Amino acid sequence: MYYPEDIVEEVRARNNIVDVVGEHVRLQKKGSTYFGLCPFHNEKTPSFSVSPGKQMFYCFGCGAGGNVYSFLMQYENATFQEAIKTLADRAGIKLPEIEMTEDMKRAASEKQVLLDINKEAAKYFYYALRNPAGKNGYEYFKGRKLSDETMKAWGLGYSNVNPDDLVKYLRSKGYSDEMIIKAGLASHDEKRGTHDKFWNRVMFPIQDTNHRVIGFGGRVMGDGEPKYLNSPETPIFDKSRNLYGLNFARSSKKNHMILCEGYMDVIAMHQAGFNEAVASLGTAFTSGQAAILKRFTDSIVLSYDSDGAGTKAALRAIGILRENGMSGRVLDLKPYKDPDEFIKNMGPEEFQKRIENARNSFFFEIDILKREYNTDDPEEKTKFHREIARKLCTFSDDVERNNYLEAICREYMIDPASMRKLVSATVNQTGLATPIKPKPKTGEVKRSTPEDGIKKAQRILLTWLTEEPKVYERISEYISARDFTDGLYAKVADRVIEGIRSGNLIPAAIVSEFEDEEEQKEVAGMFNTKISGLDGMPLENESDIDRAHALKDVVIKVKESSYDYYSRNLSSDVKALDEVIKGKKLLEKLKNTTFSI
Ligand code: UTP
Ligand code: MN
Repeated sequence: MYYPEDIVEEVRARNNIVDVVGEHVRLQKKGSTYFGLCPFHNEKTPSFSVSPGKQMFYCFGCGAGGNVYSFLMQYENATFQEAIKTLADRAGIKLPEIEMTEDMKRAASEKQVLLDINKEAAKYFYYALRNPAGKNGYEYFKGRKLSDETMKAWGLGYSNVNPDDLVKYLRSKGYSDEMIIKAGLASHDEKRGTHDKFWNRVMFPIQDTNHRVIGFGGRVMGDGEPKYLNSPETPIFDKSRNLYGLNFARSSKKNHMILCEGYMDVIAMHQAGFNEAVASLGTAFTSGQAAILKRFTDSIVLSYDSDGAGTKAALRAIGILRENGMSGRVLDLKPYKDPDEFIKNMGPEEFQKRIENARNSFFFEIDILKREYNTDDPEEKTKFHREIARKLCTFSDDVERNNYLEAICREYMIDPASMRKLVSATVNQTGLATPIKPKPKTGEVKRSTPEDGIKKAQRILLTWLTEEPKVYERISEYISARDFTDGLYAKVADRVIEGIRSGNLIPAAIVSEFEDEEEQKEVAGMFNTKISGLDGMPLENESDIDRAHALKDVVIKVKESSYDYYSRNLSSDVKALDEVIKGKKLLEKLKNTTFSI
């Protein structure tokens, strides 16, 4: 972090976190805290909190947390430097020019250089399309019924037939071959040297939600392989966390988004007024992309090709949406292959009707399933019904399951009573009743360890101190930062105690001292633990006497574990003996004291 601390703090203080978060998340005030649906994980009831007092956010569901910087860094996938620039602009503060060492420059600017190179390349392709030499490209787009205005809005371009024109241009702008290659715009081999990756193609710049060009797709004009060539993944181009068209679709007023497969489809839909369309980036739809869409809407209309591969991709996407707590509906574009062709042939009004009639994804799945069975054959028909029953079991909500059951039975003319029996039998057989549990984010479910208990006690104490600094007077005799035996906790405790002593404790400012997102999260957790007894009993409505008891228990726990820690580390820590001797005395005294709050 190379801005002076006071600037970092001023920018933070002048951006109220409630306003900044409120620009992205719908918040509702409850008491002194705001709540909303967490933008960092999938949930139906709000556990994401923003505290105006602490100027921090914290999600009780997934543990995401931090100050206003951490929020932007996590939400926009931004670096600290990007976050401070955004916030300084927002508050009308001019950031000082910073003298950077070579190392700092290199680290901080690699991403920036890659963005700059992509931007230059986009300009280069853009002008090439509008040059006489780019006539083929321009005619190609015209042939596909794109207006000049559309071509401009999407920054469409053309890469000419010369093998190294772009490389030469970028070199002339001062970029090294190494960075041009790293940006995915060129390759290098013995024979040809550094040469352009895109060659004789119409070009689609791919932008992130902030309209920054992060990569390209290039299409051959006519037949040829591959039809589309895409930039490889680079430090700025993560195909699983971006969507084509989202920079425009994010400000669409529709209450759904349309997800499709192709760049041309997105553009054709936007041109026809469906500005809620986005596409994945030449790769399968991912859970990360679902999470991003979920920031804007829960309702996705899928528009995949109607062929076998498209259907398979749609089924996969439905599963991913469901895992993320989102609902999918599927467009039927028959007899056309994709939205682009449909709109060209049938026009926007017909397309709008198809959107309104999009098929609920569960029904869509059953429709596809049915194709596998010859339902004229009684045996196959039974199998088909069993499969439906199994699928119905995936609804954990009884009402929802029953509604689907009735609707499906109506549509496929199945007797609901016998379907109900089949469902119960399936549940009994497989114990499949509530199969879709939210998956833990990474790998296995963690068992809690004694270590977790200690940290929990430390977190309760730190949160308590930040919310009621006067409590420190009661415990200062017993507790110092050294009792927080984990490095990060000790650092935070030190800053908290210092803050209380100087009468200037600002938890959100302490978070800024940590650059790493994971550390910021952990620090946010230390300031946002529910104040409770060691047994987890909340203390909000308890008497002062009970609260004092609970505080004493927490302090004893922290002190005992610190005593244990230093006893174990006598040989490796020179000050440990001191802590052990003092700690033993203090523990005895502590246990015989009556606390008051
Ligand atoms: P499609 O083959 O369905 O093409 O690819 P399309 O979108 O209808 O394109 P047009 O209308 O023929 O121009 C859908 C998407 O799959 C990716 C691209 O992102 C494309 O938009 N794709 C396809 C590739 O990345 N490479 C390919 O060779 C083909
Ligand atoms: Mn197409």
